[in-house]
This record gives sequence, C-alpha cells and structure tokens, in this order.
Amino acid sequence: MHATSSPLLVLLPVICTTLFLTGSAIQLHRPDGRRCIPAERDALLSFKKGITYDLTNRLSSWGHSQDCCQWRGVSCSNETGHVLKLHLRNQNPDPNTRSGCGNNGNGLFGQISPSLLSLKQLEHMDLSMNCFTAHIPLFLGSMKKLRYLNLSGILFSGEVPPQLGNLSNLQYLDLGTEIGKSGIYSKDITWLKNLPVLQYLSMRNIDLSQISDWPHVLNSIPSLKVIDLSYCSLVSANQTISYTNLTKLEKLDLSDNSFDHEIASCWFWKVTNLKYLYLGDNNLTGPFYDALENMSSLQVLHVILSQQQPIDERKL
Ligand SMILES: *[C@@H]1O[C@H](CO)[C@@H](O)[C@H](O)[C@H]1NC(C)=O
Ligand SMILES: *[C@@H]1O[C@H](CO)[C@@H](O)[C@H](O)[C@H]1NC(C)=O
Ligand SMILES: *[C@@H]1O[C@H](CO)[C@@H](O)[C@H](O)[C@H]1NC(C)=O
Ligand SMILES: *[C@@H]1O[C@H](CO)[C@@H](O)[C@H](O)[C@H]1NC(C)=O
Ligand SMILES: *[C@@H]1O[C@H](CO)[C@@H](O)[C@H](O)[C@H]1NC(C)=O
Ligand SMILES: *[C@@H]1O[C@H](CO)[C@@H](O)[C@H](O)[C@H]1NC(C)=O
Ligand SMILES: *[C@@H]1O[C@H](CO)[C@@H](O)[C@H](O)[C@H]1NC(C)=O
Repeated sequence: MHATSSPLLVLLPVICTTLFLTGSAIQLHRPDGRRCIPAERDALLSFKKGITYDLTNRLSSWGHSQDCCQWRGVSCSNETGHVLKLHLRNQNPDPNTRSGCGNNGNGLFGQISPSLLSLKQLEHMDLSMNCFTAHIPLFLGSMKKLRYLNLSGILFSGEVPPQLGNLSNLQYLDLGTEIGKSGIYSKDITWLKNLPVLQYLSMRNIDLSQISDWPHVLNSIPSLKVIDLSYCSLVSANQTISYTNLTKLEKLDLSDNSFDHEIASCWFWKVTNLKYLYLGDNNLTGPFYDALENMSSLQVLHVILSQQQPIDERKL
C-alpha cells in the first residue's frame, strides 16, 4: 500500500482534481486509517431509527461525528475502515427478570433494522439483553462474515430461522435466554450442520421438544467446545451414536429437560473429554457409576436422579 501511495503523492499537484474524485480509494492509504465508510454510516443511522426507546442513551453518540468508527459500540478495521464489530450488549438488565425489557431493564427497544446488511464485513455482533420484539430477523442469515452472534436474553418469539445455517463462519452462537417461558422454538436444527467452525452454542430456554435427532446433529460439528441446551424441553438423550466426533467438547449443559429414562443409556458417555456435565432437573434414573467409567476428564458433574438420593455438584 505504501509503495503505491508515494508515487501518488509525488504527482499530487498534477492530478489533484482526480484525487478528490477517487477519494474513497485514497482513504485506504491514509496512515490514520479508521475512517468510516459512508454507506456503513448510513446503515448505522437507519439502525438507530429503528430504536424507539434508548433510556440509557447508549446511541447518543451516533450521528454526532461523521466518523462512525468513533461511535459507541462500533469498531472498524483500522486498515479498511469497514465496521467489524457492533457491541450493543446491555450490561445492566433487570436483575429480577434477567431481561432488558421493563422499566428496570435498560435495554434498547425497537426493531433490528435490515440496514445492518450494509455492514458487509461485520464479524462480531452482540445485541444481547436488549428488548427487540417479534422474530429473530431472517436477514441475519445473510451476514456471512459473522463469527460471533450474541442474541442472548432477547425475548424473541416464533421459530429460529434456519437461515442462520448460512453463517458458515460462526464460532459463537448465543440465542439463550435466562428467564421463564420464552416464546421461541425450533422444530428442526439440522441447519446447525452447516456451521463447521462453531465452538459455542447456546439455545438455552428455546423449545426443542419436537426434535429427537439432536445428538446426531451436534455430533456432526466436531469444532464444538461448549453446548448449552438447558431448559429446551428435550424429551430423550438415549439416542445411539456409533462414535463421537465431539473430541473438543468440554462443557455440556442439559439441565432442566424432560429426560425420563436410564442415565446409563445417554449418548454423551462416549464424549470422554467432557469436563463439565450438567444434568440437573431431569427425570433420569440410576444406576450410573459404571457409565462414568471412561470419563477421565470430568471435573464437575451435576445430576439429580429421580427416586434416589440427590447428588449435588459432585466433584470428582
Ligand atoms: C491496526 O490493527 C491491528 C490489528 O487489527 C493492530 O495490531 C494495529 O496496532 C492497529 N494499528 C493502529 C495504528 O491502530
Ligand atoms: C452473550 O451475552 C451474554 C450477556 O449479555 C453473556 O452472558 C454471554 O456470555 C454472551 N455469550 C457469549 C458466547 O459470549
Ligand atoms: C440461506 O438458507 C436458506 C435456508 O436454509 C436457504 O433457502 C437460502 O438459499 C440461503 N441463502 C443464501 C443467500 O445462501
Ligand atoms: C462427524 O463429523 C463429520 C463432519 O461434520 C460428518 O461428516 C460425520 O457424519 C460425523 N460423524 C458422525 C458419526 O456423526
Ligand atoms: C429412550 O427413552 C424413552 C423414554 O424417554 C423410551 O421411550 C425409549 O424407548 C428409549 N429408547 C431407547 C433406545 O432406549
Ligand atoms: C419421573 O419418573 C417417574 C418414574 O418413572 C414417574 O413416576 C414420574 O411421573 C416422572 N416425572 C416426570 C416429571 O416425568
Ligand atoms: C469404556 O471404553 C471401553 C473401551 O473403549 C468400552 O468397551 C466400554 O464400553 C466403555 N464404557 C462405557 C460405559 O461406555
């Protein structure tokens, strides 16, 4: 880049007007980098228009300066000026409801504008704990550069869009919510198979009661390190998997589901490198000590067996 900029500077007096016309190309060569791309600034301003209520003024810096890279929660590439990161996590959700809605929620209210599609290089988006209503927007499935998507704690309703399976660069996908009954569900999670570098998956509190083949879906994503499918109304965990692909999986949270079978028949006893395994609030039945035979990495096991003595946070 510097090699091309020096000859340009030498010619500066001669082609001065041309330089003005090709301003956006020259921008790339600026030593001070971080310049906002006009189309991306417009996209962010459109996003702001979709926010109907911003109690804590988190977007108040948006629009004040021309350089959107300076706006709160926005980070750009210092080489290209493209927005790479949008960090709008609500740090102070209501401690009682664990949500950004309500008077004490401090969330952004409104809609997630499809204008975000203009942020073509966006890699990291955290909108967690805000108060966006209705469905998870389908257009998110077109933001192909995303590596991190956090929609945790947003009280969406409706179906999780299978379009998220188009995000083949995703490493972190957090769709989980903490509180009570969420209105969000999925009848088919096979789209997860299209996320070959996914490391972290949370669908906590999403209704997956209609899905039975979930262990096979997970087993086709060898990159997974953390899986949280707690409070998902899953019906059984006794599926047979021939061998496990999940050699990197360290943490599996399956608490608060509806497993009503023998614990020894669960598929995950083959995942022998698990460190943390949470099985509380199911209806699993013992005996289970034999099942632990090969779990040599296990550090924390939380399980409450029905009709037996509860065993809490048993440290091995
Ligand atoms: C530009 O970004 C790279 C990494 O993204 C960083 O190492 C470098 O220090 C940054 N340069 C400036 C001038 O901020
Ligand atoms: C997503 O955001 C929530 C809170 O806003 C945080 O607790 C959680 O760790 C985040 N998930 C990931 C994968 O970083
Ligand atoms: C995204 O995924 C959906 C459903 O899985 C599919 O129909 C669609 O063609 C995909 N779109 C793109 C742009 O790849
Ligand atoms: C293991 O993962 C690979 C790659 O995703 C997949 O093709 C294969 O079917 C998986 N094996 C099993 C037993 O699920
Ligand atoms: C798995 O458990 C369910 C009860 O939740 C039972 O109906 C089913 O027969 C079991 N399947 C196997 C293969 O053990
Ligand atoms: C748990 O299992 C026991 C014995 O199989 C059964 O009586 C009980 O109804 C089950 N509870 C739930 C919540 O499924
Ligand atoms: C432990 O591993 C051995 C050897 O692979 C296998 O024969 C045995 O069935 C495993 N035990 C359990 C409980 O899965």
